[in-house]
Amino acid sequence: MKLFAILLLSGLITGCRGNSSYSLPPKLLLVSFDGFRADYLQNYEFPHLQNFIQDGVLVEHVNNVFITKTFPNHYSIVTGLYEENHGIVANSMYDAITKKHFSDIEDKDPSWWNEAVPIWVTNQLQENRSSAAAMWPGTDVSIHNTTPSYFMNYSSLVSFEERLNNITTWLSNSNPPVTFATLYWEEPDASGHKYGPEDKENMRRVLKEIDDHIGNLVYKLKMLGLWENLNVIITSDHGMTQCPKDRLINLDLCIDHSHYTLIDLTPVAAILPKLNKTDVYNKLKTCSPHMSVYLKEDIPARFHYQHNNRIQPIILVADEGWTIVLNKSSPKLGDHGYDNSLPSMHPFLAAHGPAFHKGYKHSSINIVDIYPMMCHILGLKPHPNNGTLGRTKCLLVDQWCINLPEAIGIVIGALFILTTLTCLIIIMQHRLSVPHPFARLQLQEDDDDPLIG
Ligand SMILES: *[C@@H]1O[C@H](CO)[C@@H](O)[C@H](O)[C@H]1NC(C)=O
Ligand SMILES: *[C@@H]1O[C@H](CO)[C@@H](O)[C@H](O)[C@H]1NC(C)=O
Ligand SMILES: *[C@@H]1O[C@H](CO)[C@@H](O)[C@H](O)[C@H]1NC(C)=O
Ligand SMILES: *[C@@H]1O[C@H](CO)[C@@H](O)[C@H](O)[C@H]1NC(C)=O
Ligand SMILES: *[C@@H]1O[C@H](CO)[C@@H](O)[C@H](O)[C@H]1NC(C)=O
Ligand SMILES: *[C@@H]1O[C@H](CO)[C@@H](O)[C@H](O)[C@H]1NC(C)=O
Ligand SMILES: *[C@@H]1O[C@H](CO)[C@@H](O)[C@H](O)[C@H]1NC(C)=O
Ligand SMILES: [Zn+2]
Repeated sequence: MKLFAILLLSGLITGCRGNSSYSLPPKLLLVSFDGFRADYLQNYEFPHLQNFIQDGVLVEHVNNVFITKTFPNHYSIVTGLYEENHGIVANSMYDAITKKHFSDIEDKDPSWWNEAVPIWVTNQLQENRSSAAAMWPGTDVSIHNTTPSYFMNYSSLVSFEERLNNITTWLSNSNPPVTFATLYWEEPDASGHKYGPEDKENMRRVLKEIDDHIGNLVYKLKMLGLWENLNVIITSDHGMTQCPKDRLINLDLCIDHSHYTLIDLTPVAAILPKLNKTDVYNKLKTCSPHMSVYLKEDIPARFHYQHNNRIQPIILVADEGWTIVLNKSSPKLGDHGYDNSLPSMHPFLAAHGPAFHKGYKHSSINIVDIYPMMCHILGLKPHPNNGTLGRTKCLLVDQWCINLPEAIGIVIGALFILTTLTCLIIIMQHRLSVPHPFARLQLQEDDDDPLIG
């Protein structure tokens, strides 16, 4: 038994540490296709992505953070923190203490980002390692006085091909080597807003383009000899839901706009009252049955969305598919930002590479669990965070993971072996002449007495 266990363990250890990649530092490419709703994978065809998954791992649902918007969730992926802890609590923010405004196109002031340390900064502080970014919210900002060694200023006009070409060049020819890299693409979010996720015809076309991009990514990595040693994570920030044109909540019908400043509008409105908070709250409270209205101190704990100056005194949360407007129609057929417990708001995660199992499927993790997993892969010490490495153990080849059916199997197997052994011993004892062993035992006990004395 002992020998068997030793053999098994040493086999596992050598198996985990594949010889060829042993001396190279681990490398990781983190890819986000914005607004890739989890169930697109079931409802549309992705031949290239499915190949990637077949040889790697899939997490069907990633429980993201509230509010389910782009900047906040992208920052949670790279910090492992809830929004109230990393400080990017919306795409549009106002800080009542510093009197500063933030928006996704006016985002370069580091003070907004400095409440957390993103993984590319931590990676960069390690000797002989650098980070690179073909965009990702925050990668073109000097956070804690550090940008990635290689990065692009954000521009939606740069094609996917250019982002891919430049990030792979950085991954293959830089010194010190790039060990952590990001690649960001605006679709399928942009089309999801425009057509709505239920527009099968348009979404099929857009999602086929995404799949072709994934095909090009894998092809390019193989051509450059990066494929075998590089870990690649493909994930997203949030999903998307259909927003029927008539599901509008018109704030102007409930309260005069002069009574408050609107910091963010829909589907989670951030309201800064001008004079009388109670008055504003009471008027909004009865505005629509399709929206929850919270004073900051009453925001449900499960949102982890309360303890930050950048969260306004009143927030309004529209029900799924409803849009908050100011006396005008909404131009969007699809949106996100809603309650993070809604499955339509969840993205997925797929991963491939030497750190990951091959052909393993997992039902769900939290978006904050991605950060400790990435730190583990890169050998970085994580900053304090809200994720748990344990929840991603089953995805990783160097972690011991037993799921419930396996555990039951092992217990039953062990009981079976024990029972068999016991039976064998009993049978053997019956075959041997019975009195002898007992007689000898008694003799030995008697022999001991004089020694004690
Ligand atoms: C182990 O790696 C070294 C250097 O990368 C290589 O020369 C050698 O052939 C490898 N051995 C095996 C058994 O793969
Ligand atoms: C860093 O790289 C240099 C040159 O490539 C090498 O001499 C040195 O040992 C490396 N340091 C570490 C900590 O890996
Ligand atoms: C980004 O833009 C700033 C100012 O617009 C410029 O100084 C800087 O060189 C640019 N960085 C890169 C990497 O393009
Ligand atoms: C990508 O790399 C090319 C070649 O080095 C360079 O000319 C181009 O400006 C880069 N693109 C971006 C967006 O940085
Ligand atoms: C705020 O409005 C409420 C209800 O309209 C009123 O009862 C209260 O006195 C007002 N408070 C202040 C400070 O004006
Ligand atoms: C809403 O807008 C319409 C025209 O755009 C205007 O006639 C109407 O008075 C507005 N209603 C409110 C409550 O502002
Ligand atoms: C999330 O993590 C931060 C940093 O460790 C910690 O301060 C905060 O209390 C955590 N939040 C929860 C709900 O555990
Ligand atoms: Zn997004």
